[in-house]
Amino acid sequence: MSDLKVRKIDFQFPDDIAFQWNPGNPYWGNFVNYATVIAPAFERYFIKATRAAMGRISSPAVALDADLFCQQEAQHSKHHLAHLAMLSRKYPELEQVRRDVLSSYEHLFEKESEDFHLAYSAVIELCFGPLAKFVVENRDSLFVDADSRIASFILWHLVEEFEHRNAAIDIYNDVVGSYWYRLKSAPKVIYHIFTIDKIVRQGFKDHVPHEPGKVGPSESILCISKTPLIQQLKLLYELCCTFLPYHNPNNIQQPEWVTQWFKDEAAGVDMRAYYSN
Ligand SMILES: [Fe+2]
Ligand SMILES: [Fe+2]
Repeated sequence: MSDLKVRKIDFQFPDDIAFQWNPGNPYWGNFVNYATVIAPAFERYFIKATRAAMGRISSPAVALDADLFCQQEAQHSKHHLAHLAMLSRKYPELEQVRRDVLSSYEHLFEKESEDFHLAYSAVIELCFGPLAKFVVENRDSLFVDADSRIASFILWHLVEEFEHRNAAIDIYNDVVGSYWYRLKSAPKVIYHIFTIDKIVRQGFKDHVPHEPGKVGPSESILCISKTPLIQQLKLLYELCCTFLPYHNPNNIQQPEWVTQWFKDEAAGVDMRAYYSN
């Protein structure tokens, strides 16, 4: 019996949501808009890699989690695409940026081995444990005057990233198993992420107007600058720890807010506008 639950929450992204939906911390708003362009492509890539490797998974428990992991990622992707469709209705050229990101991942899938795809998935998914914890714990500094619908959608996504934080590394360890291969693959993974970042940054620069006197739509470098420095250093340390050989994401302590989110969702609370600040 797995702890992972596939939740089909009916998030809505109507046109009254502003492109910059987080005016009190626009850098974070931009970062989330970036993520919404990139995430559907890498979530699809992870799902394809995991589904392709399904026959090679020997542990029934890992196989069950792998299936639920794919289903959760598919839900994330679905809602990122809906959010992105709303952004693209405002600036239609963003659709081409989405396609460029997707084709980069499709090319990677063709070019690299199944083991590499699983290593890529493990390297990235391992980052989501510390990242999800960081965002939840610093939510009030990150989401400032935020549209509650987007903030709640992102927090849902991260709560589930926290929930399935062990899935990708368990799949990798079951199927590939080599720590050194994962470590060796990491620079290539990071390089690919930088390539994608460049595509999206340029796309936002080219296609979304920069209002004078305001933070530009492609500026996200300061996205965590409003959080305490100690929290930023802790995040950096915890991200570095994900590269250690025996790092176990399940040992990352679950924030109380996440526990409460699970309880409320199970009790039938409407999670679509759960968080507001
Ligand atoms: Fe996801
Ligand atoms: Fe994930």
